[in-house]
Amino acid sequence: MKNSYKNLIYLLLAIFATWQAWELSRDNTNGAVSSTSKIASDVGIDILQQGGNAFDAIVATGFALAVTSPSNGNIGGGGFLVAHTADGKSVSLDFREKAPRLSYQQMFLNENGDYDRTVALESHKSSGVPGTVNGLLKILNDYGSGKLTLEEILAPAIHYAENGFIVNTTTAYSFNAYRDQFGKDDGTKKIFIKENEWTNGDVIVQKDLAKTLRLIAQFGNKGFYEGETADLIVEEMNKNGGLITKQDLLDYDSVYRAPVVGTYKDHTIISMGPPSSGGALVIQMLNTLENFDLKSMKRNSTEFVHLLTETQRLAYADRATHLGDPDFWNNPIEMLTSKEYAKERLTLISMNTATPSSEIAHGTWKDKESVETTHYSVMDKKGNVAGITTTLNLSYGNKKVVDGAGFLLNNEMDDFSSKPGVGNAFGLIGFDANAIQPFKRPLSSMTPTIVLNSNNEAILTVGAAGGARIITAVLQILVSILDHGLEIDEAIDTPRTHSQWLPDQIFYEKESLSKKTIQELKELNHTLEPAKYSIARSHGIQLKNGKFITGSDKRGSRDGNQASTY
Ligand code: GLY
Repeated sequence: MKNSYKNLIYLLLAIFATWQAWELSRDNTNGAVSSTSKIASDVGIDILQQGGNAFDAIVATGFALAVTSPSNGNIGGGGFLVAHTADGKSVSLDFREKAPRLSYQQMFLNENGDYDRTVALESHKSSGVPGTVNGLLKILNDYGSGKLTLEEILAPAIHYAENGFIVNTTTAYSFNAYRDQFGKDDGTKKIFIKENEWTNGDVIVQKDLAKTLRLIAQFGNKGFYEGETADLIVEEMNKNGGLITKQDLLDYDSVYRAPVVGTYKDHTIISMGPPSSGGALVIQMLNTLENFDLKSMKRNSTEFVHLLTETQRLAYADRATHLGDPDFWNNPIEMLTSKEYAKERLTLISMNTATPSSEIAHGTWKDKESVETTHYSVMDKKGNVAGITTTLNLSYGNKKVVDGAGFLLNNEMDDFSSKPGVGNAFGLIGFDANAIQPFKRPLSSMTPTIVLNSNNEAILTVGAAGGARIITAVLQILVSILDHGLEIDEAIDTPRTHSQWLPDQIFYEKESLSKKTIQELKELNHTLEPAKYSIARSHGIQLKNGKFITGSDKRGSRDGNQASTY
């Protein structure tokens, strides 16, 4: 009896020593993954611990999100990668959805010529050809370490789809909130509605999705864009008036694009160019703000919010006219991101009064021609940094599951400008640059961004979900870190404001502005409105003094920080 007591103590001591060694090894200096799902972040960390690099980890995290974050991380959508490799190369990959060959400019207008929001957002016609699988596989193939096979990268996602994962409070709440909409589609209902409401601790099993992921693990691109999965997508389209054909799927290919690059004081900003508007606008706005002493302006003070709003007004006016898919439209990126253009536009800003949006149009340069998304990122200790923003457009896309294949379809076609000058789901307007055309990619606001210090070392990766609000959220986070010295978690948590030229309004989060500031902004002729929903949700990683710090937005999460480090 005495001996067995002793043995138990030795065993406990051994467990304690192992736990301590493991804890010490998790000192935040080896790598970090930030995503909206703790399970998916841990999948990425596990891949890093197996010797994979940031690219292996981000792909494994991406496929895991397709299971654990169905509202946005889904393989039925598309996204963008912005990365910086350990050997100093900046990369961006466009795996945005494409308009099907049968799409046409007026497809979301009713018989009176009015924009039909229901068709644009809730029908099978709202889906563009998905790009996520092609994009993730390309990243793995071109930038992965080669130490892990595709089967190994996909194994955790398949495991969580096949055997289920434990639903947390955020996901249970979200599933319940969309119950009525899920009920409109048989395929969706089968997976996302259960008899009683979802609660924290329930397990959701997704067998059809597991099968689709296994086909991808076995056949790569062909496991999605050809064969059984492609048949199921096309069957789903044919049964429900959707436009995607087998040829559309066969033709889909993601494209490496030159990232947009700018400077802000002594930092380099690397972000996503068209078909995203995010990178160009962030750099354009930073170029404007660089002319002011932001350090001396308190964050969310009257002076700060006024300047931010005037800067945003100018940039979003340019977005509406100047930006579209670069395969179809000549985007004046050089102009928009130049310091001279910012100086020229700066003359339209008065610090004493708001300039009405009706008096602001897009700029020209005489001398030159010119809600549901998610961001996840990985930094490894070798210096590789990868950030992906991916989306189905709205939460759960059009809420239609490809029956038998187990994943939801995007409603990204609404990111096009369906009717010139009429706002889409995010109130964003556009014209020819972003009109619907077959094979074209809709203009996005997704802004995966990396910051290098003056030694060209990557010190930060950040991005956000939230449609039009992504760009202004990323801007405010960058300013909070680079000007006000906050760490990424505090910078993300700081309450935000948003404006986008039209509507001519400042939307503000409750805690962002004091009564006095609201009054002072009104006196400067601004119109203000409390934001009905959060101003974007951001995730990111900062490298500071050799340690990785993660930022994981509290907005939209009832389960705390979902990021992981080791
Ligand atoms: N679907 C939102 C965006 O790409 O901006």
